[in-house]
Amino acid sequence: MTDNTCQSESQVELYDIQATLFRKRPAPYVATYVLLRIDDPSDGRQMLKRLLPHVASAARWWDPSDSAWMSVALSHSGLRALGVRQASLDSFPEAFREGMAVRAERLGDTGESSPEHWDAPLNSGDVHLAVSAFAPDKATLEPLLAACRESLRGLLAVRVVYSLEAYQLPSRRTHLGFVDNIGVPDIEGAGAAAGLPGSGAPLKAGEFVLGYENQLGRLSPLPQPATLGRNGTYVALRKLHVKVAEFRRYLKENAASPEEEELLAAKMIGRWPSGAPLVLAPLHDDPGLAGDRTRVNNFTYRKQDDAGLCCPHGAHIRRMNPRDSLDDTIVDVDLHRLLHRGTTYGPMLPEGQLEDDGADRGIVFTFMGTDLARQFEFIKSQWANDGDFVGLGTEKDPLFGDSDGTGTFTVPQRPVRRRLKQLPRFVVTRAGAYLFMPGIRALTWIAERDT
Ligand code: HEM
Repeated sequence: MTDNTCQSESQVELYDIQATLFRKRPAPYVATYVLLRIDDPSDGRQMLKRLLPHVASAARWWDPSDSAWMSVALSHSGLRALGVRQASLDSFPEAFREGMAVRAERLGDTGESSPEHWDAPLNSGDVHLAVSAFAPDKATLEPLLAACRESLRGLLAVRVVYSLEAYQLPSRRTHLGFVDNIGVPDIEGAGAAAGLPGSGAPLKAGEFVLGYENQLGRLSPLPQPATLGRNGTYVALRKLHVKVAEFRRYLKENAASPEEEELLAAKMIGRWPSGAPLVLAPLHDDPGLAGDRTRVNNFTYRKQDDAGLCCPHGAHIRRMNPRDSLDDTIVDVDLHRLLHRGTTYGPMLPEGQLEDDGADRGIVFTFMGTDLARQFEFIKSQWANDGDFVGLGTEKDPLFGDSDGTGTFTVPQRPVRRRLKQLPRFVVTRAGAYLFMPGIRALTWIAERDT
């Protein structure tokens, strides 16, 4: 038996998978991302050894009392900096080996989103290790941050190169006023359901965790040795700056009343600010529907809104998860699902303010899955930055497509559809990295092995 043929029929080893892949974050929460550079492998391994007791596993991930945790992920250059051998480094897939900045063009990270404008050092090879910590409040977060600081004690060859605080408001609203993190796929064999009714049939564990069968009935290529690869996953980390004032001005210029502004924003997203889906609430927001877990995600497109009269074909959520829209094509939507988690950073722009105040604000996203090219990169390039798959030509995602003032957005309506023009780029990539989040045994293996 080769390393790649392990146990496709076995249960998911939750105790060996990092918690952040499965756990729901507390609501509200505070979070900190810390990025580090390692200039000496033995210092790096020493730091990892110290961090290990604080890295939470996904065992009993559904238990809400486990509400504070830390996770650790590594870039390809980070694995190298920790002394992982060349044969192992070469066994990782191309997208991860190259890193996000090298693949900027295909991700639409051009113009002001291109890596040369990213926050340093995320535009260089300096990010080796990323620690993220989540907790319900600052007091509960602090011991995790203290453990992170303590892990660096006396180790001169490991240093923090970047850190960012993020949070969720008690209202769960993000910068554009919308609730997010509603659509979450379920994972087969994970021990409990995470998704809401309507989230679709559970997906094979191998879509999100390495070492298990995926939707293609195969094991995704496992980095070698298997101890390193098994129970790991890839993470696309993105810091996305949101131009809130520009978004508000665009709505105002293209709507005749505040009610129409809200409708237009909802058409772009596919949900109302409360989270109520347009397919079920086409005319106005419905917080009661948004609060009903049996209904908030329980809808389809082709059967319920084929013409896009409720939710436009080009709306953000219809692109990101077309559900049954592509049922009569050769595209299998389930091959392109992601676990995504958005966290808010930067101050909120005061309500009603239409001028930018110069503050950096936006969302830090993590997208997790076992195949960066088939999942994250496919969605970003084919579904976000192209409209062909829904008959919209080159039209892009109205929210974060790389539109640069030339974008259009089609809103089907009777008697004639409306086409919005000159969409600017509302979302600018400020930083990004491809990371590998190893299983807990793999972290121990990295920390304890000799070079
Ligand atoms: C700053 C940029 C973005 C904002 C403000 C944003 C906002 C939202 C909102 C409000 C929702 C609806 C709530 C929900 O279903 O969770 C949503 C859903 C979603 N977004 Fe985004 N998003 C952004 C970027 C992205 C990117 C870059 C991707 C992937 C490449 C993405 C993928 C998704 C997915 C998969 C869903 C769930 C769709 C569903 O299952 O129905 N989003 N987003």
